[in-house]
Amino acid sequence: MKPITLVNHLSESIPLVPTGIEGLDNMISGGFPRGRTVLIIGGPGAGKTIMASQFLYKGLSEYGEKGILVSLDETKDHFYSEMLKFGWDFKKAEEEGTFGFLDATRISRVALLKERMLKEESSSLRGKQLSIDRLIEDLQDKIKSLDAKRVVLDTLASLFYRFLDPTERRTAVVDLIESLSDLGVTTIVTTELGELGLERKIMDEEFVVHGVIMMQTLYSGGTTTRGLQVQKMRGVSINNNLVPYTIDRTGIEIFPTMTLFRE
Ligand SMILES: Nc1ncnc2c1ncn2[C@@H]1O[C@H](COP(=O)(O)OP(=O)(O)OP(=O)(O)O)[C@@H](O)[C@H]1O
Ligand SMILES: [Mg+2]
Repeated sequence: MKPITLVNHLSESIPLVPTGIEGLDNMISGGFPRGRTVLIIGGPGAGKTIMASQFLYKGLSEYGEKGILVSLDETKDHFYSEMLKFGWDFKKAEEEGTFGFLDATRISRVALLKERMLKEESSSLRGKQLSIDRLIEDLQDKIKSLDAKRVVLDTLASLFYRFLDPTERRTAVVDLIESLSDLGVTTIVTTELGELGLERKIMDEEFVVHGVIMMQTLYSGGTTTRGLQVQKMRGVSINNNLVPYTIDRTGIEIFPTMTLFRE
């Protein structure tokens, strides 16, 4: 495959990673900036998990890029059976060594506190609770052993319920995202929409990522439409119109030439 590079207005050459998602690459000059982190924000059922998984599956099936999913809210078996509905056989990919699943459903703040207080006992925590520090170490090991190029972390929203203190949560989120940037992988991190509407609240995680994509369900005249907007992609020129997207049994499709509203 011929690598895609983009020369931006500062004459910098930026290597791009095609997402393989119908319509999306077209909106972002060809793909995500390599090695960077993109945040997908969306409400419940918006299709965040499907979109992020499609990025991983296309990566390994079409672009020869191995991938890892770090799941904070779904177990492996559940994820595998859900994704098989789209024809994405992640179980087979795991057996073939092109995909890794990291179960982070046991992550908790208590684990971090215990680990810090009782260093000598921290190894006994493995298998019960998982701290952010341990998760980052496990992810680093998995990226190296697999030689993974794409990572998905789904979903930061799970941390809301586990780190009730906003300062602790912010530290956990920033630690996670910054450590991903150091790993040289192209990453999607998903999170839940905090507040609907034009005046939505900007979240901490938006400041530390390179790109932000918003997915939402819009209600009008008794019908619903799904709308997607690329809100930022540092260094890359973008189509930032709110455009429609659909979910069907082949996954997500985005229609970049159609506009729901113009800014
Ligand atoms: N075959 C299909 N055809 C049409 N829509 C589908 C199909 N499969 C799933 N969906 C839709 O996809 C959505 C779920 O997608 P996904 O699990 O990626 O959402 P999410 O944003 O991750 O949600 P959550 O916040 O619950 O994690 C649902 O709204 C569902 O209606
Ligand atoms: Mg989900």
